[in-house]
Amino acid sequence: INSFNKTNVNMIYIANWKMYGNLADIKSLKNVINLSNQKKFKKSKIIYCPPFTLLDVFIKKTKNSKIIIGAQNCHFTNSYGAFTGSINSKMIKNIGAKYVILGHSECRQAGDTNTTINKKIISALSEKLNIIFCIGETLDEKKKGNTKKILKKQISIGLSKVKKNKNILIAYEPRWAIGTGITPRLQDLEKTILEIKKICKKMPNVYSNLKILYGGSVNNENSSQIVKIPFIQGLLIGKASLNSKKFIDIIKKTII
Ligand code: 13P
Repeated sequence: INSFNKTNVNMIYIANWKMYGNLADIKSLKNVINLSNQKKFKKSKIIYCPPFTLLDVFIKKTKNSKIIIGAQNCHFTNSYGAFTGSINSKMIKNIGAKYVILGHSECRQAGDTNTTINKKIISALSEKLNIIFCIGETLDEKKKGNTKKILKKQISIGLSKVKKNKNILIAYEPRWAIGTGITPRLQDLEKTILEIKKICKKMPNVYSNLKILYGGSVNNENSSQIVKIPFIQGLLIGKASLNSKKFIDIIKKTII
């Protein structure tokens, strides 16, 4: 494991704002834009995923910066249709966003299945969007020792029929770690990341350019330990990303 050379890693930091944020909150972006323009940041990436209502202003505001904008979900079809309240990958692409989060545990809880997530991924890839594909087990699944089985199912169904993987980031976010302040023990996390890697190895399209991120209660205190884990190439940050100072602190502490 230790042959993995972290110094060559381009770290990826994703801010998932979930259902938070209004126009007034855009002000805080300025400091993050300044940070992203610094030289030592050259190889890394910051991706902001605000709610749909803020996509346009975020895209305009970050136009001349290195910050990339993504959406938090999309409909499973990329054609237009009578789906009140939904947004498809064409619309996301059209407005200028480059990424979309799919398979997030909160969307799974709201009804997304591995099969619908797969349809969403196929649809988003057909629009040339990059995917932030979230996987993770529940506490119950973990307690029953089913983590590996669940992840395998999420990955194999979620990414089935995916031709090229160059646009996919896999974010491991155990549901029990999201918004709870609890993170996996480092040795457990390391083991799970290796398992994800092993699962993906059997899927050549996915494996050739595999990038694995961690998400779930990432904060200023735990982030520097988390990024030391081999093969973790970035962080998906919820609550702490809403506050630009906290987000910047995490980035500064972990940038390689
Ligand atoms: P928290 O960082 O608030 O635990 O959220 C993690 C998450 O769900 C990011 O997608």
